Amino acid sequence: MIPDDTRAALRAAARAASAHAYCPYSKFRVGAAVLAGSGKVYSGCNVENASFGLTICAERSALAAAISAGETELAAVAIYTPTGMPTAPCGACRQALNEFGPGMACECTCDGPASIDTTLDILLPSSFGPRNLPAM
Ligand code: THU
Repeated sequence: MIPDDTRAALRAAARAASAHAYCPYSKFRVGAAVLAGSGKVYSGCNVENASFGLTICAERSALAAAISAGETELAAVAIYTPTGMPTAPCGACRQALNEFGPGMACECTCDGPASIDTTLDILLPSSFGPRNLPAM
């Protein structure tokens, strides 16, 4: 169970990160923040590229920040978009997040009243992950 104040801090970090989004092509700002096993929060934004396929989603930016800092587990992810409806993580990000926290909480917020409050295992059922590679 993640305390309400921690969840609020995670949402705030995601929102703050969206201000740094580099999205000249889509103009779609995304901010994400992950709560790591240590209790620390790491954030990231989407980083687009003129070679469109190289775009990095906000969720994977935040994930990379956490793992680069030495974290090994993620307990929650928050995603914020300055839109009327919340945005859930794309399929690629669901898979990337699954590596470090298959049961993580996932909260998606926006500028409207709607939000998505779920878990990664609901977003990515029957997932493939490290547990499927026991010999590794
Ligand atoms: N985007 C994210 O950052 N996260 C997602 O889960 C979905 C999409 C970004 C990628 C691209 O910069 C823009 O949103 C439009 O697809």
